[in-house]
Amino acid sequence: MSHLLFVETTGLGVQALARAKRSGHTVTYLHCPLYDFTATSAQRREAIQLADHAVPFADPLAGDAVYGAPLASGADPGSVDAVLSTLSYGAQAAADLAARGTSPAGTLVARDKGERRRILRERGVPSVGFRVVTDAAEALEAAEAIGYPVIVKPVLGIGKAVTSIARDPLAVSAHFAAAAADRDGLTEGMARRLDERYLVEELVSGDLYSLEVAASGGRLVPLVCASRKVSRENPVLELGCTVPSGLPATDEAALGRYAVEVCRALGFDLGIFHVEVMHTPSSFRLIEVNPWLTGGSLPDTISSVAGVDVFALLVDLFPGGPLPDGPLPVKGSASHSFLAAPQKSTVPALLPDAWFASFLARLHSGYARVGAGDVVPPMRTNFDSFGMLRAVAPTPAEAEAACSAVKADIEGFLGFPSLAERTRTPAPVA
Ligand SMILES: Nc1ncnc2c1ncn2[C@@H]1O[C@H](COP(=O)(O)OP(=O)(O)OP(=O)(O)O)[C@@H](O)[C@H]1O
Ligand SMILES: [Mg+2]
Repeated sequence: MSHLLFVETTGLGVQALARAKRSGHTVTYLHCPLYDFTATSAQRREAIQLADHAVPFADPLAGDAVYGAPLASGADPGSVDAVLSTLSYGAQAAADLAARGTSPAGTLVARDKGERRRILRERGVPSVGFRVVTDAAEALEAAEAIGYPVIVKPVLGIGKAVTSIARDPLAVSAHFAAAAADRDGLTEGMARRLDERYLVEELVSGDLYSLEVAASGGRLVPLVCASRKVSRENPVLELGCTVPSGLPATDEAALGRYAVEVCRALGFDLGIFHVEVMHTPSSFRLIEVNPWLTGGSLPDTISSVAGVDVFALLVDLFPGGPLPDGPLPVKGSASHSFLAAPQKSTVPALLPDAWFASFLARLHSGYARVGAGDVVPPMRTNFDSFGMLRAVAPTPAEAEAACSAVKADIEGFLGFPSLAERTRTPAPVA
């Protein structure tokens, strides 16, 4: 049996700790209060209770806090066999601590969106035009050179922090004029990891997909592909996923080869990695790649149709378990949609506590985190959604339609609109 060290967890990632315990491993869990907002307090408590040793630490980017935490937890740091994190904000610290884990050099490169584009360009892997800038004047020059439209995002960004699409120079200036206030509005943990650098990138249009790629022992395997729903109003905001992706098998295979090429070029060696790609009319183009498993609700959406628990797969890989031979076989379709508001909205004052139950009864699973009189913020980052709806059906289109129908009824019930979603472009009718 092994000793697994978890540095933080997503809410759903608690399943990985549970899996590790069921497998007889010793579990140490380091948690950082800066990131409490990424899971419910019940989920955080459950992770602490599951662990043999648990301790809070101050900051995943502060060496002393990270290196001192395993000992502070009461565990024997020398007995740790592998270190992992299911939370984006914990990946670097996990790699830094790893006796056996995702390569720290790989995570360092992948955290820096400019550096990873540079490496891909150097290795000849198709990517998009980009430039790293630090102020509006440089950004305007970069946008001119790349050509409009562009997207401006923090080099170290996660969760859609301070990210905007700019179709003209005015919008580039507006991004930088609003950036300071936008950063001030972020939760401390989100703001703290950013620096002054922004990436100005060619905006590619098409349909958004993601792929989880597993790596171990020098092999990389595409596991499962999802299509991603985005906001119609602001396509930077993601509103859900569907598995399977709906792509023809040949395209899905091409996407798998491309994603593996990207992960290999960046030196990703052990773990499950999340690759986001735009399917343009002519090719696949990398949006970003993360040296951690997908967050949000996608792990459970995958598990609900792939017949395997992706967290179990992840946990089994780290102590040296086998890599799957190829893509996970998927049976049926699952889709989830987030509930999020386009503008600040108020939930009606007279609402029974169990208002969500009748909607949940029409779904595979889901939740709503608002009650009578609550104020819902406009969605600006991934952490502003107030609920999730998941449907399982024979085809992707039916699963998506089931989510949409419940979402529309919830809008009517609450009396304010949700952000409208755009799913992939329908295949042309032959
Ligand atoms: N070059 C691009 N062309 C077209 N769309 C893009 C591009 N870059 C980003 N986007 C859109 O903006 C979204 C956010 O970008 P990105 O994934 O880089 O940000 P993030 O903050 O890392 O988000 P998360 O942490 O949620 O993955 C993408 O999912 C995609 O919809
Ligand atoms: Mg992303």
